[in-house]
Amino acid sequence: MPVFIDRTRLSPAHLPKRLLHREREFSLLRQILEAGVERGDDVFYSRVQVVGPVGAGKTTLCLMVGQEMQRKNRKLLHVYVNLRRFASSKVSIYRYLVRSVSEEAYSVSLSAEELLENLLNFLKNTGQRLIITFDDADYHVSMSRGRDTVVYDFTRLYEISSVRPMNVLGVVFVSRESGYGGYLDRAETSSLGASVLRLEPYTREQLIDILADRVSEAFIRGAVPDSVVEYVADVVSKPPYFGDVRLALDLLLYAGNLAENDGRDFVKVDDVRYALAETISISRASEYADLPEKPKAVLLSIAKILQRRDEQTAELKEVREMFSVFCESHGLSASGFDKALSYLAERGYIEKHGDKVGLVGVDARRLTTLLEQSLKR
Ligand SMILES: Nc1ncnc2c1ncn2[C@@H]1O[C@H](COP(=O)(O)OP(=O)(O)OP(=O)(O)O)[C@@H](O)[C@H]1O
Ligand SMILES: [Mg+2]
Repeated sequence: MPVFIDRTRLSPAHLPKRLLHREREFSLLRQILEAGVERGDDVFYSRVQVVGPVGAGKTTLCLMVGQEMQRKNRKLLHVYVNLRRFASSKVSIYRYLVRSVSEEAYSVSLSAEELLENLLNFLKNTGQRLIITFDDADYHVSMSRGRDTVVYDFTRLYEISSVRPMNVLGVVFVSRESGYGGYLDRAETSSLGASVLRLEPYTREQLIDILADRVSEAFIRGAVPDSVVEYVADVVSKPPYFGDVRLALDLLLYAGNLAENDGRDFVKVDDVRYALAETISISRASEYADLPEKPKAVLLSIAKILQRRDEQTAELKEVREMFSVFCESHGLSASGFDKALSYLAERGYIEKHGDKVGLVGVDARRLTTLLEQSLKR
């Protein structure tokens, strides 16, 4: 029995028809960016921070505002750059950015500075105007330890380039926290701080509205009773999830699949409970997949050891050996073990106890499969 009309509408890649309960933020962001577009060739461009917790709709908000601005303004392009994909390599970020605007301005032999200069010249010569969203900017800043970041460049474009008019009209920096881990200098912080758009966590009632809306796009009418939507909203509105809509949609997708497998034409609250137990680690799957190479290799080494021996923690010595073997077999240098280990510990992926380490919030078996899949890609 089918319960879905279209399950892909629950996926993070799908842009919803509308962003309920973010109407105010939507118009504010649009206003701020429009101010930059209207000023045009003046020595002014809009800079704005969008800040909010996981699954609060930051990425979606920026994409939707960007789309609308493009639709309304001829010669205006919105480019979305997810900095998480690039870790700390500025040159690969600028390659991506420049190519998204024009192949003509791009060449593989150029440095980051030359790419940026080319981009600005291209915009000047063609009259093309640009708005950029740098998503997960805090991740990029902490990976680069605040040095040589795109945040630095794009908070002071007028100082680092003399190309005029400057056809970059707006830059949006998206982050989970506004402090950027303390890595930014005062000039950057004050320049960024000018406009901060904070997305508060959704409340239970807001989540019910949002989920009901998404359910009506994805499920057959009547397949998801109100009690199910309410239960998901209940769970997700509380800590540690703080209104994470992505998790809520994952839960609904999982629960819907369970119902279909059972041959039912409706979803039960207990499907959600089951999904919840299973999904917590799955919802972090993309996060694991996005880890930089070395931390990923360390995590995989820990998972493999713990899977082999059913213990709470693994000996660091053994993890280090496993890591070296892994690096060798994957043609990587075996350096950077300690750095990768701290990286994982700081972000809560692992727990260190003296010379032992343990996994947090995921079982070794699932994690091994996940990481091995992501390394194959
Ligand atoms: N108000 C809303 N209405 C409908 N769907 C929403 C709303 N807010 C968030 N979503 C959905 O929730 C999911 C997560 O949203 P999004 O990716 O924009 O969050 P985020 O704040 O960027 O999270 P992260 O910090 O993990 O990057 C997406 O599938 C998005 O479509
Ligand atoms: Mg996001």
